[in-house]
Amino acid sequence: MANDKVSIHGSWASRWVFILAATGSAVGLGNIWKFPYMTGVYGGGAFVMMYLVCIALVGMPIMLAETLIGRRGRQSPVNSLKSLALDSGASPRWSWAALMGMVGALLILSFYSVVAGWSLDYIVGMGRGQFNGISAENAGASFGGLIGDPWRLTLWHTLFMVLTGFVIARGVVAGLERSLRVMMPLLFVLLLILLGYSFTTGHFMEGFHFLFSFQPEKVLDGVLAAMGHAFFTLSVGVGSIMVYGSYMPKKASIGATVLTVGILDTLVALTAGLALFPIVFAGGMEPGAGPGLMFITLPVAFGNIAFGQVMGTVFFILVMVAAWTSSISMLEPAVAYLVERTGRSRTLITSILALLCWLVGMGTVFSFNIWSEAKFFVFAVDGFHLFQWGAEGGKNFFDSIDYLTSRILLPLGGLSFVLFAGWVLGRDAVREELAFRSPVLFSLVYWLMRVVAPIGVLVVFVAELTK
Ligand code: PHE
Repeated sequence: MANDKVSIHGSWASRWVFILAATGSAVGLGNIWKFPYMTGVYGGGAFVMMYLVCIALVGMPIMLAETLIGRRGRQSPVNSLKSLALDSGASPRWSWAALMGMVGALLILSFYSVVAGWSLDYIVGMGRGQFNGISAENAGASFGGLIGDPWRLTLWHTLFMVLTGFVIARGVVAGLERSLRVMMPLLFVLLLILLGYSFTTGHFMEGFHFLFSFQPEKVLDGVLAAMGHAFFTLSVGVGSIMVYGSYMPKKASIGATVLTVGILDTLVALTAGLALFPIVFAGGMEPGAGPGLMFITLPVAFGNIAFGQVMGTVFFILVMVAAWTSSISMLEPAVAYLVERTGRSRTLITSILALLCWLVGMGTVFSFNIWSEAKFFVFAVDGFHLFQWGAEGGKNFFDSIDYLTSRILLPLGGLSFVLFAGWVLGRDAVREELAFRSPVLFSLVYWLMRVVAPIGVLVVFVAELTK
């Protein structure tokens, strides 16, 4: 059956616009903020290695699966899965996977907006020269001051959510392209400048070794984290790439396109790591500092180099934009679905969903201050508690949502999508969408989707459960 459907939500002008949009979605806080701090927490090289393996063997096949499902279905992820399943004589319940992904994406947006809000605060701080000549210690204190203040966090979180809703309400296909064309290359250039600075710290090799020296004994520690992060950073498992795939022109080649997005995303993460860790070591800071890592190290770097005030300001503007182009892709699957389902206006649906995410995000705002003692998933001597105030272990609200999404919802969503493409859609449909010239390449990629990626996700799950 030929694929001649068109999406009611619009379509990209060319495959380049898809690359821009998907790269915009993939490159975000995951690369610049989360990847370096997770590498720090999970001990460096072993984590990086597992991350790269997960990207190549699991993340990329899933991204391919999502893109082709989206392009063939031409509707929101939920309805694309439903109609393709029915076309293939399978159960429409496959769409539940997309429903779960959609909720996962909204949950991610709830905390993403708070962290993106930190970068808004830093734009102002940098612009004012508040970090000029700052020491590592004072940078730490200044970050502590920010996250300890619920009002300030709420202000920025609200602003960021409004920005996200604004683009989505107008439609992704319009507004997005022009800003991405300028911003993405600029982000690369600034990262390279930071990398240049990290060379001058005298600790470059130390940072390099931390990122790339492989300690086999640490591999098991971080493998589930690495798998979860591979999903997060590529934006797969929630339908974001699928919904963008549904706006992709019919003729564009999916394979090369998806590969480009994956490579760009990985390059940004590695560059960010290489730029950050030498600064961490030069400042005598702890690589395992957690979520605050980037917000403490980068101000130290910018505060102590020539033109640092201007460059720092521009840098945090770009972090904000990178986060923005990711956050809209979290909202789009749900908005597209509800528009299809209810026929109401994008603006109305966007407003309601953004408000919901904002509310859940307040839990993250409070995680760092008035609710820092509210702990979920507590494993204590007297047993398991879902919630306990002031418990020793356990996770705060922010950590819980992060855990639930990255470790559980994303991998499960990704697994369902790749199984759908590999086992339900049918070989002919997949071959037609991928349109590879070489039959050998097709067989290899199809095998990755059918066998390697699903087994990869399952093995990591089981390894974690039996650890
Ligand atoms: N990939 C984005 C990042 O690295 C986060 C994201 C996750 C975006 C899921 C969309 C969906 O920051």
